[in-house]
Amino acid sequence: MTTKPSDAPWADEPFKLIATPSKRLDDHHAYVHCASEMTHSHNVIIRGLNAIIQQAPHVPDSTDPSYNAQDVNDLLFYTQSWAKMLAQHHSVEETYIFPDLKKLSGDSFMMDDALHQHELFHDGLEKLLAYVSSTEPGDYRRDAPGGMKDIIDSFSKDLTDHLYAEIDEILGMGNLDSAGLRQVWDQAEKVAKANGNLGMLYDVFPCVLGCADKTCEGGNTFPPLPGVVLYAVKYWFASGNGAWRFNPCDLWGQPRPLTFVPQ
Ligand SMILES: [Fe+2]
Repeated sequence: MTTKPSDAPWADEPFKLIATPSKRLDDHHAYVHCASEMTHSHNVIIRGLNAIIQQAPHVPDSTDPSYNAQDVNDLLFYTQSWAKMLAQHHSVEETYIFPDLKKLSGDSFMMDDALHQHELFHDGLEKLLAYVSSTEPGDYRRDAPGGMKDIIDSFSKDLTDHLYAEIDEILGMGNLDSAGLRQVWDQAEKVAKANGNLGMLYDVFPCVLGCADKTCEGGNTFPPLPGVVLYAVKYWFASGNGAWRFNPCDLWGQPRPLTFVPQ
């Protein structure tokens, strides 16, 4: 399923990627489209998390003679961008997608499991955001108690369990009105794009693009962004920022070996 670029460890582990439903389900109901788009988003989040977990151990902190402040600075910025991307994903779900699904289904409890799962990793994510936003490279510690590893370990299992479970929940929506479900999805996509801000072009967008493997399982077109945005991110907003060295793909979605692992 993965298009790992070499035998070295890559962003398809330790947390497994999700198989795209549309590649195996022959059903024209909208739930297949929705579950597949959500799978692409979740795999972006999982690749980013795996890229951090795989590469952070090879970025020495200031207690190590081979410490490089720029590398640590870039790792902190990359992790911050990933955390912002994750927070944005769940905010769109909670604000738009879940309430609309409740309305469409007439079931006021629909997606409550997902909401509960969000709560399980919310505090850990907030802690990580605070840590990477306020820590100076010289003070960064990965392995010390309360350091970045501890914080990520405290919520990564709850997060990935949720990312897998939500796809299964959407795969169970074949009983909903197909056109109505597609409308909820298309509307959420529009609103998410409209709610994006300029700042996200400098952090969230390059992280999404560099974690979206466009060659996965025979190819896909996620994220659905116009070419002009891709060029603007690549040649303007992401330009000159070393944090994108931590991305597992280039900004065109082509997998590449991880920069900070022994090859
Ligand atoms: Fe999701």
